[in-house]
Amino acid sequence: MDKKIIDKINLLAQKYSATGQNLDSYLDGLLLSDFLGYWDYINLDTLLTLQKPKTDFPDEKIFIIYHQITELYFKLCINEIEQINENGRIIKDDGQDLGWNKKLSLELFIEKMKRLNRYMKNLIESFDVMIDGMDKREFLKFRMALLPSSGFQSVQFRKIEIRSTEIKNISSGKNNGDILSCYDNLYWKKGAIELSTGKKTYTLRQFERKYDLELRELSRSMVTKNISYKYNQLSETDKENKHLIKLMKEFDYNFNINWKLAHYKSAVKNLKGKKSFIEATGGTNWESYLPPKFQKTIFFPQLFSDEEIKNWGKSWVESIK
Ligand code: HEM
Repeated sequence: MDKKIIDKINLLAQKYSATGQNLDSYLDGLLLSDFLGYWDYINLDTLLTLQKPKTDFPDEKIFIIYHQITELYFKLCINEIEQINENGRIIKDDGQDLGWNKKLSLELFIEKMKRLNRYMKNLIESFDVMIDGMDKREFLKFRMALLPSSGFQSVQFRKIEIRSTEIKNISSGKNNGDILSCYDNLYWKKGAIELSTGKKTYTLRQFERKYDLELRELSRSMVTKNISYKYNQLSETDKENKHLIKLMKEFDYNFNINWKLAHYKSAVKNLKGKKSFIEATGGTNWESYLPPKFQKTIFFPQLFSDEEIKNWGKSWVESIK
């Protein structure tokens, strides 16, 4: 037998005996097991059962699938942000995982920010699936079957925010600076209020019931881990790195302006009637809540000039100085 194979079998025998297990039994398992198929690896059959329209309108499938695609992209974003939050994992060349780094390196920070922008760009560019890619008449019918749910209840969207910035940056002026007070005054909690009664919308109350505990805990644990904090922990020289600053600003623009404008455009296209705005499934006063120039959420305000902040959200930002 090839010496390389024999060496590998010896290494495997050492690996298993170190944990008191028997290599012979594992080899039996290997002999008996079937080759892995793509469909099993990707869980394709399960994935394709996850689209369950509530009506027979064909375009409802587009609506569901595009939301799912977006949620998967959000998952990719969180996968990268988490590594900034935790300083990145140390994986040796032989695949051994040695846990989290003690300190975040500039190289890793830059690489992760690049990936975040790539994902956000794909989402922004593909949003016309929602703007031009659905029949409005069908949309206005099938949306009634999904009341009172709304993309507003996307917990991954909120996790990206909490993992990216100090909570005070996404909280309204009315907080006394501590985490819980900032949490209770997050801009989206203030946005989902019924104008007539001043009460929280049912969509918000339902979301809070499901996720408040988890998001509060995440907010607490991100105080010294969020992207903005990690940036401030860099050395003075690294903090001035132009490439990193550009990438961070780009992410802020992509998430807090460009994606929100693309999304707002889909709301206008599908929910604006000839004479008036149509009430949204989540019940917010969406035409004054959604536009980024009113929300003015900025993850890294210290990186922007007064002028840039003043003009925040007034138009798309394509190039960055
Ligand atoms: C035709 C397509 C869409 C329309 C008409 C629409 C409409 C709306 C409206 C009106 C709101 C405000 C909350 C409410 O009252 O319901 C909202 C919020 C939201 N939607 Fe959509 N949406 C669309 C597609 C999407 C997609 C594909 C996603 C992806 C997950 C999404 C994610 C969100 C998020 C994250 C919020 C909260 C935004 C914030 O707090 O600034 N929406 N949407």
